[in-house]
Amino acid sequence: MKISVVGCGYLGAVHAASMAELGHEVIGIDIDPARIESLQQGIAPFHEPGFDALLKKNASRLTFTTDMSAAADTRVHFVAVGTPQSADGSADMTYVNGAIKGLVPHLLKGDLVVGKSTVPVGTAERLSAHVTQAGAILMWNPEFLREGFAVHDTLRPDRLVYGVPEGTVGDTATAVLDEVYADILAKETPRLVMNFATAELVKVAANSFLATKISFINAMAEIADVTGANVTQLADAIGYDTRIGRRFLNAGIGFGGGCLPKDIRGFVARAEELGVGEVLSFLKAVDDINIRRRTRVVDVLTEELGNVEGKTIAVWGISFKPDSDDIRDSPALDIAESLARAGATVVSADPEGWKPAQARVERAGLSMSLTTTSDHRAAVQGASALVVATEWKVFQDEDPEIIAGLMTQKVVVDGRNCLNSGSWKAAGFHYRGMGRN
Ligand code: UGA
Repeated sequence: MKISVVGCGYLGAVHAASMAELGHEVIGIDIDPARIESLQQGIAPFHEPGFDALLKKNASRLTFTTDMSAAADTRVHFVAVGTPQSADGSADMTYVNGAIKGLVPHLLKGDLVVGKSTVPVGTAERLSAHVTQAGAILMWNPEFLREGFAVHDTLRPDRLVYGVPEGTVGDTATAVLDEVYADILAKETPRLVMNFATAELVKVAANSFLATKISFINAMAEIADVTGANVTQLADAIGYDTRIGRRFLNAGIGFGGGCLPKDIRGFVARAEELGVGEVLSFLKAVDDINIRRRTRVVDVLTEELGNVEGKTIAVWGISFKPDSDDIRDSPALDIAESLARAGATVVSADPEGWKPAQARVERAGLSMSLTTTSDHRAAVQGASALVVATEWKVFQDEDPEIIAGLMTQKVVVDGRNCLNSGSWKAAGFHYRGMGRN
């Protein structure tokens, strides 16, 4: 089939390449000429394992352009633009509205527009009128991909969710998207068809649940800290109950990235608009617990060093999670910036995140006190303390004996509980975990 994908960020670019992998002819459209240029050359504009290879493998079926009129040659149009957080916490719909407005003049009767962006409940209903006027059908098909596993999650999703309009038009939309995803469905992927509102809510409910799980275990970590309990053992023990499950119960410095934090805030803002804000008040607590985790690391360092001012501190990790160069709302970078603002000299190391972080550090006016590098050993040279803020494998595999020899004081704060505490202690480190020591 001929498919267009409007928006070529993490979601859209991976979706475009994955649709080409399924055998479709795909046109990716984005307003950013540099991004399009890079994609057109087969070079991934961000770090995502397996994505470069997918782009190259499917180059013959992939075109990228900034010209929205290219969508006129295709019959299925995915909308995968961003919905960043507005100043008031709600989702900024500028790009989604712009994408639909830009697409409508190029739609033909019978075309299918498939929304993938994470949107406030009620959006699809509102936009459907514009698409229907052009004789096309709108449906919503939320995406559940995780950065770092984006290619796998797109081609082998846990489930497919279709939000469709009522009546036969909904059946038509389902049939067309089934054809697009035929190979995925052939692998017995569960596919759930529902109305617009349910599909929109599924996405924010899933992210809210995940965020709640993380903040729950982080609350337990704080309790563990004052009681001498071990939060990792606690998570293991409760996780054996299949009703609870062990995944997303890793305590640490909390969640970040372009999705979980903004989605819970956007959900709260939307519920308030709908007059039911109170029912989601627990999500504010989830957000508060999450932000407290970042302050907690600075507090632990202050306990260990007396004062962070004037101290050299190494931070391993800049990206919000390993195997990603995404620094949006990254707890690791936030902590490094807080330490720099508190008067420490900070060297942050990350295999990928160091590149995008440089510009942000300069914008924040912190380049005198916060430097970034890809070399995690260079970062600890002469440092009084090390904070492990993103659990890259290369950090976990590091030999603490070597690191001990490079530092002036042997203090390690394991912000992700990802180190082998025994071997770091054996190397002479004062080890501080998050809810375990
Ligand atoms: C998240 C969801 O997991 C995806 O299902 C969803 O599709 C995506 O948002 C989205 O809305 O587009 P992602 O942002 O890639 O995916 O990251 P996650 O793997 O969910 O991790 C989020 C944050 O939680 C990271 O900072 C991670 O370090 C943290 N985390 C995760 C914990 O602190 N503890 C855990 O146990 C798990």
